[in-house]
Amino acid sequence: MLKCTGHYGTPDRVAADVHAIPFPSDKTLFSKTLNQIAPDLKGLINDLREKEDFTGKADESVMLMTEAGRIILVGLGEVAELDVERVRRAAAQSMKKAATFVAPVVALYCPLEEIVRKVLPVSFEDTVQAMVEGALLATYKYDAFKKPKPEQKKGQFKELKIVTADEGFQSRLKAGIQEALIITEAVTIARNLSNGPANVVSPETLAKEAMAMGKKLNIKTVILNKKEIQANKMGGLLGVNQGSAHEPRFIVMEYNDKKRRLKPYVLVGKGVTFDSGGLSIKPASAMEEMKMDMSGAAAVLGTMYAVAKLKLPIRLVALIPATDNMTGGAALCPGDILTMSNGKTVEVKNTDAEGRLILADALVYAQRFKPAAIIDVATLTGAVVVALASHVTGMMGNDDDLMNELYEAGDRTYERVWELPLFQEYEKMMESDIADLKNLGGRWGGAITAAIFLKHFVGEFPWAHLDIAGTAMLEEAKDYQPKGGTGAGVRLLTEFLKGCKE
Ligand code: BES
Ligand code: MN
Ligand code: ZN
Repeated sequence: MLKCTGHYGTPDRVAADVHAIPFPSDKTLFSKTLNQIAPDLKGLINDLREKEDFTGKADESVMLMTEAGRIILVGLGEVAELDVERVRRAAAQSMKKAATFVAPVVALYCPLEEIVRKVLPVSFEDTVQAMVEGALLATYKYDAFKKPKPEQKKGQFKELKIVTADEGFQSRLKAGIQEALIITEAVTIARNLSNGPANVVSPETLAKEAMAMGKKLNIKTVILNKKEIQANKMGGLLGVNQGSAHEPRFIVMEYNDKKRRLKPYVLVGKGVTFDSGGLSIKPASAMEEMKMDMSGAAAVLGTMYAVAKLKLPIRLVALIPATDNMTGGAALCPGDILTMSNGKTVEVKNTDAEGRLILADALVYAQRFKPAAIIDVATLTGAVVVALASHVTGMMGNDDDLMNELYEAGDRTYERVWELPLFQEYEKMMESDIADLKNLGGRWGGAITAAIFLKHFVGEFPWAHLDIAGTAMLEEAKDYQPKGGTGAGVRLLTEFLKGCKE
């Protein structure tokens, strides 16, 4: 992770290879920013504004060579429309622009406190946090298997300096930076796991990562192996694993640093390390990205990391059923009937609807903690991508308060969620002629029928299901999100849990 430090000053007084300054487009605030952060450049920048080369509109950016060094001007847009997401994006844009130069040390200037106070419904600290997150998340690359090119110096950052030109605000930078560093690390853990190919990230690898994190952060971590999974009668996880060369794992992590006697929150993450579809095999074009079918597990592990590092005053349990979904000789056949860990029987109409089978056993396991709430995170259906594209996570559940809290957390982090209904009419679509349930709905409403299936395994506990099939993996980079695994869910869930004190 990049070194990140807080400073007070202006470009002539802060040592950096490039200085990025965000400007709002409103005339007076544009001028105030100019007066306070770069008074020496008044003539030059006012000239640019008059010629409309740079007016502070969102997405605008310009580089100037000055006596104080390279200056990047970034547009924040109209102050009336400013929010923390704009701040994240402006920070990301600054880093992307800076990456086109050899500039190991970047100074990123905070918007004036006056702007923050006036328009953002958040504190100065939160604004700093958003800035650092946007900047650092934008510099992510999955390069574990690429040899470094020493001649490639552009985009090789060493240090990010967060600078305020508001006197007395330097001390207020620290908290925001600290939290942003933890969150960015957590998202990076999730992105790396998602992007890791299936021959590297196996169920065993996920278990080892969890164990290593548990040791490092003092989180009680237990890994159930195949025998123990059998002893728990997890028919869903065992069924999906039948066609695999790898043994399944069931990961249980429990964070409770102060031995609090609270009801825990339980996070459940889908850990399908590769989804070939099984015998109901996927076409080649749809199969390639299925190394990322453990992105729910990745999000849960990333969140666990953030919560433990931030020492949130809660109890948190993470459950990850982990297997790949393959076509070996012993693979599940369409038509097979499985008995899940709560005794319910399931007719497997399609072996590609495997996520719900392994999640069902994990949701049953979650109930033993008598949780305050259960939240599962899964790349569960293509149908949710059809409904919401990659912009929004699909949310379903049985508890309005829980879903409202998640919605609010999604709004604040811009990891937005949108609820789809679980009306009673959908129930019939999951009924089987010969078993308690089937794992396939009809042709329509696939995201919803998948959730209807899960609902049979959560008992009476407050529960929300997050279908991140669209948001966890991107075909094209956008803003501070890379192509490939995004780490979706980590910021959302951490923000949600920050608000929980039960
Ligand atoms: N992992 C997939 C869902 C998925 C699709 C995730 C696209 C990310 C991008 C899941 O296991 C799956 O195959 N779902 C099927 C369910 C169907 C057979 C009911 C689907 O969505 O097609
Ligand atoms: Mn599948
Ligand atoms: Zn899957």
